[in-house]
Amino acid sequence: MKPDILINLMIPMTNPIKLTIKERIQETPDTITLRFEETFDELPYKSGQFLTVLVSINQEEYRREYSFSSSPQTDTNLSICIKRVTGGKVSNYLHDVVKTGDILNVFPAAGLFSPILNISNKRTLVFIAGGSGITPIFSMIKSVLAIEQQSKVYLLYANRTENDIIFKSTFESLQTKFSGRFNHLNVLSQASEKWYGLSGRLDQDTIIDYLEQLPVIFPKEANYYICAPTGLIKAAQQALTILKVPAANIHKENFGSSNNQEINPTNTGNEIIDRTVKVKYKGIIHSIFVAGGKSILKSALEENIRLPFSCEKGVCTACLGTCKTGKVEMKGNDTLSQNELDKGYILTCIGKPVSDDVFIDLD
Ligand code: FES
Repeated sequence: MKPDILINLMIPMTNPIKLTIKERIQETPDTITLRFEETFDELPYKSGQFLTVLVSINQEEYRREYSFSSSPQTDTNLSICIKRVTGGKVSNYLHDVVKTGDILNVFPAAGLFSPILNISNKRTLVFIAGGSGITPIFSMIKSVLAIEQQSKVYLLYANRTENDIIFKSTFESLQTKFSGRFNHLNVLSQASEKWYGLSGRLDQDTIIDYLEQLPVIFPKEANYYICAPTGLIKAAQQALTILKVPAANIHKENFGSSNNQEINPTNTGNEIIDRTVKVKYKGIIHSIFVAGGKSILKSALEENIRLPFSCEKGVCTACLGTCKTGKVEMKGNDTLSQNELDKGYILTCIGKPVSDDVFIDLD
């Protein structure tokens, strides 16, 4: 079928990949799945990762990251899930304009929010999600159940109403298929009278109650993956801290801060000294002048050096690099764990050099 809409990339940061929409699925009143013709072979990815979609609306380029809802282990075709955001240009465009047969330009898969799977693992994984934060977790759960046949998986999923529960019937089928290995619990904050499940806000105490009832001997030995708005992430983090779960066992992704709220990442720091940093990207070493207070990414883009990026808010990790020498400050980082920081990972969109010898490797 010849596509009616070709969504053009105006300023490429790297070669885009074209994906053809095979199917649109209305998951809930405000959530759709876009399933593509393409498969893992054309765009490799890991469960939990996202891709960046580029669209041109009224001659302006927008890029937004959307998590894969497909699993590389269980689904043939790539798919992403998109929740409509009030006032969100891109999500509304994808909901209202694109259709089956259209082509989207995307950047390759990225993101660190992904479990390392091993067929011999025998462990417990607990997933906590809120709203459309279920998308990467849906992908991960399918992969874990398929690969780690000795591991147990639990899901605690918060929504407002029953109509808002995404992938509800698939989770019910998975629970039947993997009885004894997978269990999930929905929590609704605005449940109707017909709802027989758990209702109320998913807060710190509710999470602790749930975890203490799981048939695992030591909740602190489980691995936790959390994807939710900021409030639920904080509640889950506090609950896990109270239960003395080591930080290394907690993995989280916050999607609430990236929903179309444009902030200027260059205005958040106090650093006022101008510096020059070196950045290696695609084998080329660039010298980039960073005026005091500006981020490395912003400075590079102003010099027309097209480094990779997407959200520009320190959320998506599309701009992830490794600081090989020198020191980079990232105020407000809530994405990279201490373990990742210790390995030298930095985000150029919120990173500012605080020494004169900064060398960053983006390859
Ligand atoms: S561009 Fe998204 S974290 Fe930097």
